[in-house]
Amino acid sequence: MYKTFFSSGAGYPAYIGGGALSMLGRAAAEAAAGRKAAVVTDSGIPAEHVSRCTEELRSAGFEVFLMTLPAGERSKTLGTVSDVYGFLIENSISRSDAVVGLGGGVVGDTAGFAAATYMRGTAFVSVPTTVISQTDSAYGGKTGVDHGDAKNMIGCFYDPRAVICDTDLLKTLPEAEITNGLGEIIKYGAIADPELLAGVSRGLPSDAAVFACAEIKRRFVEADRFDLGERRVLNFGHTLGHGYEAASGFVLPHGQAVAYGMLAVTRLGERIGVTEAGSYGAILSACERAGLDSAWEGGLPAALPYIRRDKKSDGCSVDAVLIERPGAPIRKKLPFSVLADERNYR
Ligand SMILES: NC(=O)c1ccc[n+]([C@@H]2O[C@H](COP(=O)([O-])OP(=O)(O)OC[C@H]3O[C@@H](n4cnc5c(N)ncnc54)[C@H](O)[C@@H]3O)[C@@H](O)[C@H]2O)c1
Repeated sequence: MYKTFFSSGAGYPAYIGGGALSMLGRAAAEAAAGRKAAVVTDSGIPAEHVSRCTEELRSAGFEVFLMTLPAGERSKTLGTVSDVYGFLIENSISRSDAVVGLGGGVVGDTAGFAAATYMRGTAFVSVPTTVISQTDSAYGGKTGVDHGDAKNMIGCFYDPRAVICDTDLLKTLPEAEITNGLGEIIKYGAIADPELLAGVSRGLPSDAAVFACAEIKRRFVEADRFDLGERRVLNFGHTLGHGYEAASGFVLPHGQAVAYGMLAVTRLGERIGVTEAGSYGAILSACERAGLDSAWEGGLPAALPYIRRDKKSDGCSVDAVLIERPGAPIRKKLPFSVLADERNYR
């Protein structure tokens, strides 16, 4: 098992690897002086994971209360957060107790935001269960919910007190969710670790790969906790990816959309002389090995109107992240005239 420590803010440990769940009781006891733990999970999390989690907490002396949200992005709303508050109040959870989020990014973002705002902040312990949450969303303190179709519009920075990242929990994940998560690992490889990029393959990632992603995220978060500059390179592929996602009516899985976004911006980077030749090929090959669809046909016409409305757009250009080569990200304003030019994707 790997251990790392995020030193931003008050700091928190992350335990990463098979069997890490055995650290949950101790980590929660260190995080919260109280004796109650409210576990927030979703209906898609296998019962075996839920009972392992609650047993660990009970054996550390916690009285455990379980709340199950309906699985899926549609649960990521203020209405759900309000339901969580109701549940916490009903069970007399105090500021010194713990809220534990057991699930993927939806549970982590929603329960984390509820913990951040309940009684002005209650200890939050994150137990991520998907590739996306174990490699990315559980770290860095971004919590929040959607507002209608506007993703992640409401939220705050609130660090967990510990992240318990047990990669054994991934064994029950459907293949499509694993493949989707590999899109984020490709992103980490492309911006910071060419070896990680070269090693991506279909199926569950190794513990070492999950840990490598967490360490890359830690470096960027420690340099720029509130996402004002350097941390933004973690958005590689995301600005264009969100455009593809929105254009598909959010049918396209997030990781797949990010893969298209990375392919598009890297091809464009090569065409405008920012990105070294061969970089597009390296990302394309990683996508193919991961089992992500790489039959991207180039261009952005359908996605462009959504990119224009992006938070990072000023109407004429958009702040984008490109790479000079794998491992070397660069932030650059891309004019819409350049983005719209089909020749840049050939
Ligand atoms: N806060 C951040 O920094 C950050 C970063 C990236 C993504 N996100 C957010 O994360 C969310 C996506 O997260 P996600 O991809 O984890 O999706 P998710 O949380 O919706 O989980 C996907 C599905 O997998 C099921 N599942 C989860 N763990 C399982 C397991 N071990 N076995 C079987 N089934 C399991 C869930 O029930 C759900 O149906 C989005 O809302 C996105 O905005 C946040």
